[in-house]
This record gives sequence, C-alpha cells and structure tokens, in this order.
Amino acid sequence: MRSIKVNLDKKSRSSYEIRIGKNIIDRMALIIAKNHKAEHYVVITDDCVGSLYGKKFLAGLEDVGLNVNLIEFPAGEASKNISTVMDIAGELLKLGADRETFLLALGGGVVGDVTGFIASVFMRSVPYIQIPTTLVAQVDSSIGGKTAVDLQYGKNLLGTFYQPCAVFTDLSFLETLPEKEFNNGLAEIIKYGIIDDEKMFQTMENHMETIKLKESKLLLNIVESCCRIKKSIVEIDEKDQGLRHILNFGHTWGHALETISGYSITHGEGVALGMIAAARLSEKMGYLENNQARRIETLLRKAGLPWKIPEVFSADDIIDALRMDKKKKGDIVRFVLLKKIGMPFIVGSVNLEMITAVIEEMKE
Ligand code: GLY
Repeated sequence: MRSIKVNLDKKSRSSYEIRIGKNIIDRMALIIAKNHKAEHYVVITDDCVGSLYGKKFLAGLEDVGLNVNLIEFPAGEASKNISTVMDIAGELLKLGADRETFLLALGGGVVGDVTGFIASVFMRSVPYIQIPTTLVAQVDSSIGGKTAVDLQYGKNLLGTFYQPCAVFTDLSFLETLPEKEFNNGLAEIIKYGIIDDEKMFQTMENHMETIKLKESKLLLNIVESCCRIKKSIVEIDEKDQGLRHILNFGHTWGHALETISGYSITHGEGVALGMIAAARLSEKMGYLENNQARRIETLLRKAGLPWKIPEVFSADDIIDALRMDKKKKGDIVRFVLLKKIGMPFIVGSVNLEMITAVIEEMKE
C-alpha cells in the first residue's frame, strides 16, 4: 500500500494520508479502528455501490469490532441536491448519530461530495473518511476537501471546504466500474498530464490501450502521480484562491455543458470537450503552439472520450452557463488556458467572439 501525506495549514485542519493500493479494504478497517477510533460509524453510499460492496464493506468493519450502520441513496447526479442531504440527516438522527459519529463516504464523486457536505454541517461538523470507488473520485474529488450539492442553476453551487481525515483508494473497485465511468476518470488523468506533467501525458499517448485494460502497475503509478499533483496544489491553495483553479482546466466549459445537457453529458465527457475548447482557445489567442489542441484531442479520442459538441446546444446557451462559474469575479469568467502542455495559466477576460468561434468549430 502506498501512502501520500496531504500537509495542510494547521489552522484549518490536521494533515491526512491518502493510501493507495489494490485489495486494501481489510487493512483499511484495521487502520480506521486504530487511527480513527469512534463509538459509531455510518457508511454513506449509493444504491449501486451499496448493492455491489455494501454488505462486504460493513462486514469488514464489523470484523474489527466497529459499530457501523449504512445509509444508501439513489445513485446519480440527480441525487446531488439539498433534499438528499435533508433525507440523510434525518436518517442519521434516527440511527442515533451525534457529534462523535464518523461518516465513511463509500462511492464516486456524488457520494463523496454529498457525504463531505453533510459531515461539514451535521451538528456543526463530524469527521469523515473518503473511500472513492470511481476513477474520477480516486484521482480528484476525494482529495482536497471540496464538498457540494448542485442547485437547479448549476453544479456544486452550495458547498463547503471540509477536509476528510483520511482517503483510502482501492483500485480493485475499478474492476466493476462501467467503461463510460472509467473513461470519465481518464479525462481527469489526462487533465493532470496537461496541467502538470508532460511526461505522464506522453506515457498516456504511448500506452492508452494498456491503461484501458486497467493494467495494475501502470494504473497504480498513474493514480499515485495524479494524487501527488493534486495534493501539492491543495497544500499551496486549499481554499481555491488562485493556483487551485488550474485543477479546473476544461471544467468551466465542462460544467456548462453538463448543466445545459441536464447531465446527459457526463462530467468526464464535459471535461474532455472543455479541455479541447480551452486548448483551441489558447491557440486562437496565440498562447499555445498550433497542433497542441489536436494532440490533446487525439489522446482524449484514444481514451474513448468525445471531441464534438452536440449540435443541439447553442453557443448562447453554453455562454450563459459559463457565466454561472464559481470562479468568476463580478462579470468576468476566468478561464484556465495553456502556454504548453504542462504549463497552464489563468486569464480574466476572453473575447466573446473567440469563445463563440471555438464552440462553433467544435459542433458536430
Ligand atoms: N476538482 C478541482 C478541485 O478539487 O479543486
């Protein structure tokens, strides 16, 4: 089992470990019993992960003497809202949860974000641990303490910064992950290559077929590299004041596309399209050498991700949705652009005609 320490400012919360490996759940139970002792634990998961792993996971924790309950909610982005939070809070009260209760988020990004949000507000906060089961959650959303639910106006508009006490990443969960979900994770992994690690980007260009077969050693190395990149950014900018924005390369566009499609475009698909759009915009604005956007598009296509914006979405609707971005200052939406692969930067104002031109070029 590999271990990465996230060193946070002592004022905010103590540091924590991300542990990564394959088939590590038994060891995880022992570590929780030893390092995160509590009278009561509640596993929060969705009905999909719950039906695959719920019983086994609970049994593993009970075997080391822990008092555990399980709460399930319907799987999917549609559940990531305040009424799910209210339902779970009600269930927690029925189970006798109090300030000493420890929450365990077992699932993908939705489970992690919702559980983290509840942990940050239930009885003015209880501790929680992330056990991410999707590739997106393993390389991104389980690390760094962003918690959120969606509003009808857009994604993640209600949320908090609240760090977990530990993250346990078990690659064996990926064996049952549907291909589309795995590809969503590949979009995030490609993002890390683009924003921080051209060598990892090249490894993906050369070995995407092997990665898609979930070859253990290569995938483990890549997941670890992504977690290391993320943790070093979060350590510098925990509250997303500047540097952390680069983790959102492609996401401003991606969230806009997800929202206006009613989430029929998945997170990874939106981010893939967003990264191509951001690279094309970088080329148009003269920052990025021509042909790098094509290079990014080629890798995303190899990973099984989309490269065309569906014709049904108008440039006006996409631009309206872009304006809902949380990182905007006043009326100015901030975009993460590229100078080269491995070298992102943030710009405050982008010409509307250029954005429209990129969208039109990318239409089916
Ligand atoms: N997913 C982007 C971040 O954690 O900042």
